[in-house]
Amino acid sequence: MRIYQAKDYNDLSRKAANIISAQIIMKPNAVLGLATGSSPIGTYKQLIEWYKKGDLDFSEITTINLDEYRGLGPDDAQSYYRFMHENFLDHINVNTNNTNIPNGLEMDSEKECGRYNEVIAKSGGIDLQLLGIGLNGHIGFNEPGTTFDKETHLVNLSEATIKANSRFFNSYEQVPTQAYSMGIKSIMQAKQILLIASGENKAQAIYDTICGPITPMVPASILQLHNNVTIVADTDALSLILKEHEILKGGQLK
Ligand code: F6R
Repeated sequence: MRIYQAKDYNDLSRKAANIISAQIIMKPNAVLGLATGSSPIGTYKQLIEWYKKGDLDFSEITTINLDEYRGLGPDDAQSYYRFMHENFLDHINVNTNNTNIPNGLEMDSEKECGRYNEVIAKSGGIDLQLLGIGLNGHIGFNEPGTTFDKETHLVNLSEATIKANSRFFNSYEQVPTQAYSMGIKSIMQAKQILLIASGENKAQAIYDTICGPITPMVPASILQLHNNVTIVADTDALSLILKEHEILKGGQLK
């Protein structure tokens, strides 16, 4: 694991965008695994800016998103489809035929998960998977307790995740209780993984991911076993690790 400390969210977003840019420049037809949520918004903004300047070309890129709420589709303001189009895809020259998000409107979960696994397989594999991390250590919507051997599957969202995500909805009751998500197995098959985290409320999840035991109770801890993981986190998200580092150097806990 490579861990980069960013000063703040802006710095984190620029660093993450630089890593993704490098991937696009080195492989113009790369397959990018993408995430939604607050964490990647700044990264997408930065990539859009560089695209508009003429520094990046997405015309041969394929994108494959991690997840989508079951029951929401393009017409729903809170769907991940809308999030991705509004925050990224509509502002770059990606071929929309090459953009992939689970279809939340397909109620036959076996059919949709099978289709999505095919999409991933046919793409030739994800070159770079961008990940945020949940307060409970989830990646994608793989909640604590999910086994590591899953591909795309139907998830019952945990109460903690529903509560955390209710900030994007008018009320807690409006948050869907299920989602389609790439599984840990699919994520671990990506050639490179870039996890970003910002804010003190992510400090425990980041600490457990990097320093804790590998356990399904902290889904992101499995990343310790991947051979090409980069974590870019701001000082607040790294605070518990930095504190421990101080103690190990012989400093006193202040
Ligand atoms: C989103 C996703 C989730 C988020 C995580 C963090 O596609 O898969 O795992 O990355 O919930 O969300 P934010 O960035 O909003 O804190």
